Amino acid sequence: MDAAAFFCANYCHGFPLRCDSMIHSALLMIALLTDAEAFRVIGGNVTVVQGGTAILPCYVIDTTDDLTQITWQRKTTEKPHNDNFLTILPRDGAQFVNGRDDRFKYIGNFNDKNGTLQLSNVTLKDEGSYTCIFTLFPSGNQKTEIPLNLLVPPFTNIKDNLPTLGTEEVLFATCTAAGSKPPAEVRWLTGALGDNVRSTTNSTHYDNDTTTTVSSLFGVPTREINGHQVQCVISGDSLSREETLPFTIQVYFSPTEVNIRAKSEDSFECVTEANPSANFTWSRSGQSLLQSAVKVEGAKLQLLSLSSDLNGLYQCEASNTYGSKHGQLYVHVASGACSAAWALFGVLLFLNVGAAAWYFYKHGCSQRRSLNQHGGKQHDTKLHRSVRNDDYGPEEEDLQRDQEESL
Ligand SMILES: *[C@@H]1O[C@H](CO)[C@@H](O)[C@H](O)[C@H]1NC(C)=O
Ligand SMILES: *[C@@H]1O[C@H](CO)[C@@H](O)[C@H](O)[C@H]1NC(C)=O
Ligand SMILES: *[C@@H]1O[C@H](CO)[C@@H](O)[C@H](O)[C@H]1NC(C)=O
Ligand SMILES: *[C@@H]1O[C@H](CO)[C@@H](O)[C@H](O)[C@H]1NC(C)=O
Ligand SMILES: *[C@@H]1O[C@H](CO)[C@@H](O)[C@H](O)[C@H]1NC(C)=O
Ligand SMILES: *[C@@H]1O[C@H](CO)[C@@H](O)[C@H](O)[C@H]1NC(C)=O
Repeated sequence: MDAAAFFCANYCHGFPLRCDSMIHSALLMIALLTDAEAFRVIGGNVTVVQGGTAILPCYVIDTTDDLTQITWQRKTTEKPHNDNFLTILPRDGAQFVNGRDDRFKYIGNFNDKNGTLQLSNVTLKDEGSYTCIFTLFPSGNQKTEIPLNLLVPPFTNIKDNLPTLGTEEVLFATCTAAGSKPPAEVRWLTGALGDNVRSTTNSTHYDNDTTTTVSSLFGVPTREINGHQVQCVISGDSLSREETLPFTIQVYFSPTEVNIRAKSEDSFECVTEANPSANFTWSRSGQSLLQSAVKVEGAKLQLLSLSSDLNGLYQCEASNTYGSKHGQLYVHVASGACSAAWALFGVLLFLNVGAAAWYFYKHGCSQRRSLNQHGGKQHDTKLHRSVRNDDYGPEEEDLQRDQEESL
């Protein structure tokens, strides 16, 4: 009896097909039936996140054969040859063949013909193909292969390229998803900025099959774009959920013009625009600040006791890592009349407490206002406007430039 006839004798009863017409295809079916029905070794395709725990399922069903041994083999990038690493015997249980690896744990049940293994603390080196072999009697060895696939979530970060004010396109920031497997997708959500920014994406593939993807955001570093919020979105199979990193576009610049604002009749504040925020230092031209007569707190200068000891030119320096700029305040506490000396300084403010009046350089000495007739707040705004509008006279500008050059 040849194979086909044997097959027909055993399997064709009851089928409404004629045996002699299907001898050719029957040869093929024998193979299918032995694998698919006689014993079925059930495995799986396992995917695990690096550092996690993988279950490598393997068991036989539909057999009454006796099981004598279960053998596990593996083929990984580290060990490219399929070799035994674990055997399971009914008496001795699980035995490592070439060295212990306590990360493997036999969690199946020999009597149930279940060879399932657990692998904890999975690393990229464990990726590969695992084969479990059932030694059955009388039918022999039956096996199945279980691919183990690793997912490696990326390390993510945004790096600010610290752009300074300018008119040419520059790199604002890079968003990186490092060492992802499979590769991660990195993109920018720029909302209202639209065409004012653009991005490019780059990726590098490593030998260990991880990929680093970098997306760069470009634009013109203007004042208008400073402070805009954007987001970098990282997604892919290696991440259980999308990751969103917020980023505020910062355009850095040194202090712009420095204004000195009167807060009240005896206190002043230095005001400027800068990114990062400026650091203020008050000093007095040619002399040290009188500790007892003035109080300095960041941008603020307060005159504590109004005496002629305070007279002189005060300077406020606004600075950040990108540069510095000055503003000046001339203080004159006098009991007498105006002195022509004021004009020598590029005077911003002139405080004449003796006469209880504010004088402003541009208006000259002849015009005086009495403090007593005005509310403090009104003075404040008036003074502020004066400072801003009139700003420095030509002499003042020269003076300021000289000082900047000498820095
Ligand atoms: C196993 O699953 C992975 C990930 O889902 C897939 O890429 C791979 O093709 C599968 N392999 C097999 C042999 O089915
Ligand atoms: C798995 O990793 C954890 C944390 O690093 C460690 O405490 C544990 O001992 C490791 N387990 C094995 C079996 O190596
Ligand atoms: C084999 O063992 C595993 C682990 O104990 C279990 O989850 C699984 O259900 C078992 N399979 C069968 C068919 O018994
Ligand atoms: C992009 O890739 C090119 C070529 O590999 C490299 O020179 C460049 O530095 C990369 N750019 C970024 C932003 O990583
Ligand atoms: C993969 O290789 C890169 C480059 O050598 C390395 O930086 C990274 O840590 C490796 N990743 C893993 C998960 O081993
Ligand atoms: C401000 O300036 C002072 C004096 O130069 C310096 O010691 C201080 O660290 C600065 N502060 C900041 C926030 O830059």
